[in-house]
Amino acid sequence: MKKYLSVKEILDKKEGDVSLRGWVYRIRDQKDNIFITIRDETGIIQLIAAKEKLKEEEFLLAKTLGIESSIIVYGKLRKEERSPQGYEIDIDSLKLIGKSENYPISKDFSEEFLLDVRHLWLRSRKMTAILKIRSTAIGAIHEYFRKEGFYEYQSPILQSVQCEGGSSLFKVDYFEQEGVFLAQTWQLYAEPAIFSLGKIYTIAPSFRAEKSKTSRHLTEYWHAEMEGAWIDFEQLQDYGEGLIKHVIKTVLEKHKEDLEILKRDINLLETAISKPFVRMTYTESLKLLKEKADMDVEWGKDLRTIEEDKLSKLHDTFVIVTRYPKIVKAFYMKEDPDDSKVVLGFDCIGPEGYGEIIGASEREPDLEKIKQRLEDDGEDPKHYEFYLDTRRYGSVPHAGFGMGVERLIAYITGVDNIKDTIPFPRTMVRYKP
Ligand code: 4AD
Ligand code: MG
Repeated sequence: MKKYLSVKEILDKKEGDVSLRGWVYRIRDQKDNIFITIRDETGIIQLIAAKEKLKEEEFLLAKTLGIESSIIVYGKLRKEERSPQGYEIDIDSLKLIGKSENYPISKDFSEEFLLDVRHLWLRSRKMTAILKIRSTAIGAIHEYFRKEGFYEYQSPILQSVQCEGGSSLFKVDYFEQEGVFLAQTWQLYAEPAIFSLGKIYTIAPSFRAEKSKTSRHLTEYWHAEMEGAWIDFEQLQDYGEGLIKHVIKTVLEKHKEDLEILKRDINLLETAISKPFVRMTYTESLKLLKEKADMDVEWGKDLRTIEEDKLSKLHDTFVIVTRYPKIVKAFYMKEDPDDSKVVLGFDCIGPEGYGEIIGASEREPDLEKIKQRLEDDGEDPKHYEFYLDTRRYGSVPHAGFGMGVERLIAYITGVDNIKDTIPFPRTMVRYKP
């Protein structure tokens, strides 16, 4: 049996007889010579079907091939300065495997159209490059946590509590029961498990009924989360920084070519991970915004997108903003023992205006304070009894964070919209195909 080579293996081989299979990427008919560019998951290469060399029916087949037809080709590889890859294959024989007529993606490249035909657009060079980087990034997250001694742990997706605010909860039709939701985060089901496993992490889908259409929000996204017993606020920041740096470094090592296809400025990524992340308190960030950008934020108001963007553009690395006002953050964040108006939580903001990539905190240990804050949010603490038991039986200092996988990939790949970082993006208005 012939051994098929990938396009990349062929380019490494440089000459000789080759067999390959793939899809027609481009085709140019020059009468007696048909130039066919073929693609597979590793790249593209140009083939020539010459009338004088092929059987009549094979030449006719080459002439009528549609974009995205799948073919098997046998031929001779040779150097060719004029071809973009530096090599070309003279076809000896050609076989059609799956025909493709009138491939829908030819002229219309509007964002909405490409989302309608997302199942086909996945084949584009852009999506292929992004999806390869995504695969590596997710692998690198696993690597990082496992290297740091975390166990992988799974929490339920169907949950009976909210954690990140009722307004973005998806209700589930669960055998006519009330109060069943899709996970916004693993957190309330992760905290109980640190008593068993110490340090844990997950990479899982989270769901937010986001009513806003922004370039950063999906209704279904992948969430890399960690939680650990005895981890303090400084260590938590170190883990966040360590994780992001490891993922970017790994992608830079393996995907220079893909980043080039995406026209990503690699220097910006290298600079961002070459130095310690900037760490400042929320109060300091307001001062900086005032001084450097003449932006006035009233103390006690959350940072909005425009302020986060400004902060990020004042730096060339990630910015960790700590100690936000208690009133703008979630009920579980620990009150700062030195200042009860703020919490020991942080947001890690990406460079170049990519926004919040990590949300984190040390967890409030005080049972009564948690109950009070739940009530302040209009929640009935009764529904949280299982969670409150974590504070009743051998409570320990602990902390955790969640990182938006697509947010980090959007930054790494440099795409304008988070939708391009996930195969089938879901937003308020998009749930098909
Ligand atoms: O800041 P968030 O809401 O924090 C939590 O969910 C915590 N319970 C995590 C934890 O401590 N275990 O979400 C964490 C991160 C954000 O920083 C952001 O990167 C991402 O999740 N994120 C989204 N990504 C895409 N689309 C959305 N709608 C997102 N909402 C949050
Ligand atoms: Mg957040």
